[in-house]
Amino acid sequence: MKNVSLKEIYNYLENLAPSFLADSWDNVGLLVGNPRKKVKNILFALSISKDIIKEAKEKNVDLIITHHPIALKGEKKFLPDNYVYMLIENKLSLIAMHTNLDVSDISPTLNIANSLGLKDIEPLSSEEPKYGVIGKFLGNFEKFLEILKKSPYIAKDIYRIVKPYNFKNLLKRKKLHIAICSGSGESLINEAIFKGAHIYITGDIKYHAALDAKDKGLCILDLGHFGTEFYFYKPILESLKEKYPFLNYYISEKDSSPFEYLNL
Ligand SMILES: [Fe+2]
Repeated sequence: MKNVSLKEIYNYLENLAPSFLADSWDNVGLLVGNPRKKVKNILFALSISKDIIKEAKEKNVDLIITHHPIALKGEKKFLPDNYVYMLIENKLSLIAMHTNLDVSDISPTLNIANSLGLKDIEPLSSEEPKYGVIGKFLGNFEKFLEILKKSPYIAKDIYRIVKPYNFKNLLKRKKLHIAICSGSGESLINEAIFKGAHIYITGDIKYHAALDAKDKGLCILDLGHFGTEFYFYKPILESLKEKYPFLNYYISEKDSSPFEYLNL
């Protein structure tokens, strides 16, 4: 069976979402691995965890491609509970495509926006980097939820809604302005309001931000960090399959939202 070097795969991914586009605090690209190593089996997962490393080992994977980089906090010791240690010990390479992907034209945010059929999509913020988008949905709230339910870019998570004080008016609208920022979009709430969004789709909204949005008339659909980003891999997988059809591709079966319902 044919295989390619890790370096070649990395260079190909760099064309899709160049590392230099990443935010300065971020840590993207080839994070662990030998560029000369041959790659046959690739696993996609949103984040690295013990479960994902175990799954990669079971599937005989050479390379894991994640959206989230390993969260490094200035570690000086790499002991067995550290992901870098675990990856090297298990002969696994890691490439992360994070904020460089978020600002590309195959970002999780744009994937969601396009799957909802939004028109006139534009950046949510005039400042760099441009993470969120806003666009128009031609239809009412009920119709919007119908389309949202079918989006192939929203994964299973705990979904929450923040209904604004004027929610009844929103239900009467025949056209909706929809803002979207996948992952953690709390910092863009004011941009969404400023740009005239009726609905903001994002994840990781905290109590005070939700309360504030409610009073300012913004409806928030918190579809979870995992829910809005798990399918980040779809356009990357499609592109890799086309270029390297002879490689084996796996989508993690162990990756899931860390949040579950607790019935007290
Ligand atoms: Fe994220």
